Amino acid sequence: MSEPTLRQRKQNLAKTSSSGSTTKSPSRSPVRKASSFGPGFYVVCCLVLSAVVFLYPNPATELLQTWLGADWGASLPGGGADSVDLTADVAKRDAVVAAFKHAWLAYERDAMGDDEYHPISHKGSNLTEAGGIGYTVVDSIDTMLIMGLDEEYQRAREWIKTKMTLDRDANFNTFETTIRVLGGLLSAYHLSSEDPLFLERATDLADRLLTTFETPSGLPLSNVNLAIPEGRADSNSPGLVSTAEVATLQLEFRDLTMVTDEDMYWRKAEKVMAVIKAATMPPGLAPIYMNYEQGRFVPSAIRLGSRGDSYYEYLLKQFLQTNRTEPIYRQMYENAMTAIHNHLIQKSTTAGLTYTSELIPERTQEGELAWRLTPKQDHLVCFLGGSLMLGAVTAGAVVDKVSIPPSPNQLLEQGIRDWSTGVELIKTCMATHDTATGLAPEIVHFRIPSDGLSEFMAPTDWYIKGARKGAPASYDARYILRPETVESLFIAFRLTGDRRYRDWGWNIFQSIEKHCKIASGGYASVINVDEVPVTHEDKMETFLMSETFKYLYLLFADSSVIPLTQYVFNTEAHPLPIFNPTIRTGFS
Ligand SMILES: *[C@@H]1O[C@H](CO)[C@@H](O)[C@H](O)[C@H]1NC(C)=O
Ligand SMILES: *[C@@H]1O[C@H](CO)[C@@H](O)[C@H](O)[C@H]1NC(C)=O
Repeated sequence: MSEPTLRQRKQNLAKTSSSGSTTKSPSRSPVRKASSFGPGFYVVCCLVLSAVVFLYPNPATELLQTWLGADWGASLPGGGADSVDLTADVAKRDAVVAAFKHAWLAYERDAMGDDEYHPISHKGSNLTEAGGIGYTVVDSIDTMLIMGLDEEYQRAREWIKTKMTLDRDANFNTFETTIRVLGGLLSAYHLSSEDPLFLERATDLADRLLTTFETPSGLPLSNVNLAIPEGRADSNSPGLVSTAEVATLQLEFRDLTMVTDEDMYWRKAEKVMAVIKAATMPPGLAPIYMNYEQGRFVPSAIRLGSRGDSYYEYLLKQFLQTNRTEPIYRQMYENAMTAIHNHLIQKSTTAGLTYTSELIPERTQEGELAWRLTPKQDHLVCFLGGSLMLGAVTAGAVVDKVSIPPSPNQLLEQGIRDWSTGVELIKTCMATHDTATGLAPEIVHFRIPSDGLSEFMAPTDWYIKGARKGAPASYDARYILRPETVESLFIAFRLTGDRRYRDWGWNIFQSIEKHCKIASGGYASVINVDEVPVTHEDKMETFLMSETFKYLYLLFADSSVIPLTQYVFNTEAHPLPIFNPTIRTGFS
């Protein structure tokens, strides 16, 4: 496959960089007015969303036609199942294994046991001064099991056995510790034929994490002091927890209940879902912050990016983990996806790229609540393409087992809708790789008529805000080794057998090799995807080894490796087995 063509983009956008945080100064974009903050928030929310929809026509009505007339050709309907080849591409798969080893061996040489790794200075660091908790080792170990790296696995296991301790007198993020460390331990437990070491460590960690759930609402606090242990509120946002953080613990805690036969973990995690369900009003979208005293949403951004993303991801995955036996999760998932289609999915002006926008609440000068539709899409949102396709062939299917690829008559109407949107969103995410490095930026903005930019400043459908030649790179311009696009490519390939997903994944992998690889070992983030030669940031995020290289490996591996019919991946790419639950969900 050829390298992506370079956009002839002028990089002189006279705009300030966005920081990725939720607060934005008011802009000239259309602002919808409504009444003030307060108990009527949800009524306001609904009214305003309706107004927004009026301005941005709902694309869902066109989707069936898109499907039938799309460039899917022979792979739909009645197409291609016999010619689908889901066997390994051995050479590419093995190239990914070599890359993983290049990352791991450098970490092991320079920083074994430290939480994080800095490949340029050849140093490790810990999340807190109280000492490491095995963040990188535990996050990486199931990838070794999947790749068959037995020697590396044995050394990592030995470290967990002899060196790992959770007696660290400092605050750790509840969500990050759950998805990376608890998820990693549970996945290692399952993939190692139930090595009791991993279960013992997982139970120890989960028991400490349980202290965060001691709030009036049952929503867990953002942090935990692991040594005491005790839940701790986040002093940066008093009284609040983020929606994705409280709603992305359920796969892990439920799995622990299944393996220990101890109900408590399940109940605590599920209470959160009941609180969210009770707090959610039509049209089914969830703002990114909740109040943990009352268990209510507070006016805050609505988006599929940071602090929102994995809430939606886990709605589907909770339905899948329980072997599709819990209609409540299917219903919550379907409501959310319909709301996303009605309110957040947009099409770009020239190339017609499908993307998701954000809704940002603002106060007008009169102190009234107003919502601003912002055409900003985080790289994080790129999980959604694959997730929608997976949802379409499960929650959105009329049969238990769809063909590969599925045909429209196997899917419900919303399954067809979600599948089509998923396919389109992946294309959009690939379009954001059209940069000087072939790597996608952290955040992209799409052109809208009211953005005040000229054709000269941003000739394409999307741009990196704040990017300017000669100026320091904007926050948005970085690539920090994120996995979300290759995660979607892996799922799309497994569900279609369409080779182009492997081709796209290979292109991304080659860009990582070319621009992120450090000769002396490890991989580093790039601070501007549109500049070659690149400037590195001295950091190798742990999700490179737990997610990015794992999903790339699985993209090129035989489809019998971690089949999607038997496993769900937690949001850190740790596979957990699907099971038939013996406990029923206690809310409706
Ligand atoms: C991280 O914590 C571990 C355990 O306390 C310690 O041995 C190691 O030196 C720490 N690493 C750094 C870079 O401080
Ligand atoms: C999931 O349910 C199906 C029946 O719908 C059953 O055949 C399968 O064995 C179940 N899977 C597990 C892991 O229990």
